[in-house]
Amino acid sequence: MASGRGSNLAVILDAIASGVCPADIRMVISDKAGAGALTIARQAGINEVLHINPKDYADRAAYDSACGDAIERSGSHWIVLAGYMRILSAAFVQRFAGRIINIHPALLPSFAGADGVGDALAYGVKVSGCTVHLVNEVVDGGAILAQSVVPVLDDDDRESLHARIQQEEHRLYPATLKRIVEEGFRLDGRRVIWHKP
Ligand code: GAR
Repeated sequence: MASGRGSNLAVILDAIASGVCPADIRMVISDKAGAGALTIARQAGINEVLHINPKDYADRAAYDSACGDAIERSGSHWIVLAGYMRILSAAFVQRFAGRIINIHPALLPSFAGADGVGDALAYGVKVSGCTVHLVNEVVDGGAILAQSVVPVLDDDDRESLHARIQQEEHRLYPATLKRIVEEGFRLDGRRVIWHKP
């Protein structure tokens, strides 16, 4: 599921196409008709590429339920959020409990929310980064699967910091998805314990 440019989707598709990540993408859903992610998915020949418009649904619950029905029909196991900018309803999270993964452009639990990059910059931290995590009912609050750190430079603006973080995202997200499907993990409280390869 993606709302934006789709650069994370693109690197995940590359990792799959080159055999690095043993997975396949059954479906790409966007809430935004103009999302670059939809174009990237179509160009990659993904079977089902859907724009599901929130305006066609009465509320968040109805929208999420329609997305969930489409995902179930696709037979997908994992739901990978790649720049998906809508908050998921508790019902959706429970329906796919433990199977939804997100990437966030900050070092959680710091700077959760819609503007992780801007909030970190405004706070004045000297390092930031990205976090791949499981999705639970708390926004950006699920167990942490992987993190990567980047420096925040004195002359950074939002754009330059986000670009540096995205370089790391593009390495970390496919690598973590590969690990999820190849190794698997279990949870010990909030701690992710990877199975041995
Ligand atoms: C990524 O940087 C991702 O971390 C962020 O949106 C960007 C999407 O870029 N996600 C969030 O902020 C989620 N709250 P992309 O469309 O180029 O993959």
